[in-house]
Parts: sequence; C-alpha cells; structure tokens
Amino acid sequence: MALREIREYGDDVLARKCKEVKEMTPRLQELVDDMLETMYESNGVGLAAPQVGVLKRIVVIDTTGEDPHVLINPVILETSGEQTGYEGCLSLPGKSGVVTRPNYVKCKAYDRNMEEYILEGEELLARAICHELDHLDGHMYVEKVEGELVNNEDLMSEE
Ligand code: NI
Repeated sequence: MALREIREYGDDVLARKCKEVKEMTPRLQELVDDMLETMYESNGVGLAAPQVGVLKRIVVIDTTGEDPHVLINPVILETSGEQTGYEGCLSLPGKSGVVTRPNYVKCKAYDRNMEEYILEGEELLARAICHELDHLDGHMYVEKVEGELVNNEDLMSEE
C-alpha cells in the first residue's frame, strides 16, 4: 500500500466525469488499498478516485474509523429527509461550508470483489455518500455551499 497525492480544487481531474469499472484487477485492488490508506492518513471520512487522479467510479468511505466501505459504480436509489451542516473536502484542505443534503440515503454499489450490495446511511454517512458520489461526476461541494466558505480554524474558535 502507498499514500497517493490528493489533487486539490482547481485541478481539472476533479471536474471530469468518471468511467464505470468493468472488472476488478490487481491494479484496482491496489488503488482501493491506497485510497483507504490515504483517507485514514488525512483524517478524512471519504475519498473518491478522481481525488487521487484516477477517473474511475470508485469511492471509499469510513465515518467512524472502523467501518470502511468500498463503493464501486455506486448509484443512489433512494433519499429522504434533509440535513444542513458544515462539510469539507480533502481536495480543499482547511475549508468548510454549509451544505444541505438528504438525511437518509440508500445506494447500491459493488464491493471490491464486484459483489453487488446495498448501503444505507443516515446523517454523516448519508452526507458522505452524497459528497463522494458527486466527485464521480466532476462536482464539488463548493457548488452547493450556502453562504461563504470558512476557514476551519475560525470554525473551531467559534465553538
Ligand atoms: Ni470531497
């Protein structure tokens, strides 16, 4: 496993649509391992393949630090409710902004063995699923921010 360089906002690779994964390969297995390692190292709760420069529909999410989800070719099936809160992105370090997302999300995806499964989440997990899936279509949360982006340091001093 190895850490990958995280691409930052403004990099063209973050504005492009990712391609579906047709089959799992040793190279993609390595990519998934590297994405998990890179996410944990950066204290993130999710990471999408374009953030490490790979235009494939692959996402990793772990909102608790002990429950890693690998989502390949994920599709949202159902959403409900609403939550409004601060959101950040490893591709825009040190910043956060207020984004409204569904409070519940149900999606289907393939795991790293290309077995289809269903992932349901509420609150932070629902937010992370929506955020990461947006990356696969070249979208970043900044497009949805209500008001201004803030510096994380200012957020902490407010609390
Ligand atoms: Ni992000």
